[in-house]
Amino acid sequence: MAHLSEYTNRLELIHTNNTLTQQFTENDVWFINLPYYEQKYNIPASILYMELNSFIEKANKNATIIILSSPIFAADFLSGLSPFANLKLWVSIKLKKTLKFESKLPQHHMALIVLTKYQKSLQHTKTRIGYTYCPSCERTTKDYGGKKHLYHEFGTLMSDVWRDITINTNEYPEVIINRIQDLFGIKPYKKLNIIDLRAAYKAINQNYRIKKVEQPTNKIDSSLLINGDCLTKLKRIPSNSIDFCFADPPYNIKKKYQNWNDDINIREYFDWCDKWLSELARIIKPGKIVAILNIPQWTIRHYKHLIKELDFYDWIVWEGLSLPVRMIMPAHYSIVCFSKGKPKNIPVFTREKHSIIEYQSLNTIKEFYCSRANCIKKRGKQKIKDQEYATNLWWDIHRLKHNSKRVDHPTQLPPKFMQRLISLFTYEGDIVLDPFNGSGTTTLVAEQLKRKYIGIELSEYYYEISQNRHMELKGGIDPFRKNDKVPKAKNSYVVRLKKQTYEVDKKTLQLEVKQIANKIGKIPNRSEIKELSKYPIKYFDNYFINWSEVTAAARTTGMQQVENKKQYEMMKQLKLFEERKVEYETKGKKNN
Ligand SMILES: C[S@@+](CC[C@H](N)C(=O)[O-])C[C@H]1O[C@@H](n2cnc3c(N)ncnc32)[C@H](O)[C@@H]1O
Repeated sequence: MAHLSEYTNRLELIHTNNTLTQQFTENDVWFINLPYYEQKYNIPASILYMELNSFIEKANKNATIIILSSPIFAADFLSGLSPFANLKLWVSIKLKKTLKFESKLPQHHMALIVLTKYQKSLQHTKTRIGYTYCPSCERTTKDYGGKKHLYHEFGTLMSDVWRDITINTNEYPEVIINRIQDLFGIKPYKKLNIIDLRAAYKAINQNYRIKKVEQPTNKIDSSLLINGDCLTKLKRIPSNSIDFCFADPPYNIKKKYQNWNDDINIREYFDWCDKWLSELARIIKPGKIVAILNIPQWTIRHYKHLIKELDFYDWIVWEGLSLPVRMIMPAHYSIVCFSKGKPKNIPVFTREKHSIIEYQSLNTIKEFYCSRANCIKKRGKQKIKDQEYATNLWWDIHRLKHNSKRVDHPTQLPPKFMQRLISLFTYEGDIVLDPFNGSGTTTLVAEQLKRKYIGIELSEYYYEISQNRHMELKGGIDPFRKNDKVPKAKNSYVVRLKKQTYEVDKKTLQLEVKQIANKIGKIPNRSEIKELSKYPIKYFDNYFINWSEVTAAARTTGMQQVENKKQYEMMKQLKLFEERKVEYETKGKKNN
């Protein structure tokens, strides 16, 4: 699917001699194409990592270096990245055809890592991708509700999970290169240099050096919710006693937890993480899985520590789109999975029969079908095959945004997320442990799926929430039901206004601002709205969080169902708008 980059000066494509010995004379962008390494032991790591790091170190101070390979390459290379490079982005790119390996979910993504020599935030063009339309109801895949006037006519801002363009591991990644030419078409860049190293650094076949772990296992018979610090409590759990460990730790990104500071020094954070990771490595049974959820930048650091004690198993990508906070929206969460020694009888592949919840959680709605209830119903009646088996790229599980599904905890996971993980990695009767149990999603799902559980939570308040929800479950009440209580904990930092009645609805006001913008050829400021709008300025002051929300519709053209060729016209319109803005500003300066 097409993209639209605003004001790009498309980079000129240069094919190099495909080596890492290059002349760095300009502020250019480099694209390094590597083989898809299937596992750590396939990477000619000692030479390749040294040469790549030295290449990065020699590159110009403004250079952007982009590398395409497999997730295991990205995790392994980045965990020893030169201190002169800055990891800006890990884009997960969907594979056209999944790769099948024994006892693994179909492998469905490649890793595109974006490194810079500079430290400031990543410099690139504002790039949008076209909307997708449900093949059944022909409406947009995502439901934009009453806010269509705030969306861009062409499409949405890109995120760090690309599913609109796909590649095969053995093909020349033309679609990706094409996008990079526009994405980085800004000053000082002029050229995109391609270095294709697929032939030079082919995958090697070393013997599979999996760690040997033949230790006796211990049995835990009852389920337990524990209130306290996980480091202290984990020490009391016997070694080799847990069938599946899952951790969703605080990410150290300033979330407001009840009694945990989520903004500590990053070294301190990682030292702390290493300690509980080692405890999880100790208590997991041989052959079983430890899975850690975090943002990719931090997961790399967890990888670096855990690879010393366990064996890498899989890198699952969860596209859990959150707030549109940056020009490339952060949607990519990673679940890094390790096994203790050789993974043994992974339940999803060896189970004789799935329960209904297991079956449902392991299936996804096929890509691009929408999830509107009436469309799902219609598809059911028409017997349309709109489901498929999950891969290691998850796009179908949405974060809990609606208060009606949330309890009083800021970072609750959706139950389907835990249902899928527990169904993948455990059998009925197995024991699941979560050291950061929060509102109890893991342990509740474990109980629902007839697994035993241990959930540890520092906050007494969250611990009590989880206890009450377990009581509900035991009493036959669904703990994940909708309710009408408004939770006190926020799951975002978005400022909210007090409830009030609107004399004129916000959409009308935003469209009025858009009309004024079209008239004067620029985004109006407060005094211009005061002078030119037919509505009193107090509405604009009181109904919106900030001026950016007031002018939101003026900054887009509003979304419509458009044909592709129309989408390209957008570029022209945007340029025209910009010219008129410059004209207006020049006039303003002259008048002053
Ligand atoms: C990201 S949240 C987990 C949310 C959980 N997955 C859910 O769905 O509700 C992290 C949790 O770890 C808890 N926590 C922080 N430090 C802890 C510690 N040292 N020991 C145990 N829990 C801790 C926080 O109170 C918070 O509830």
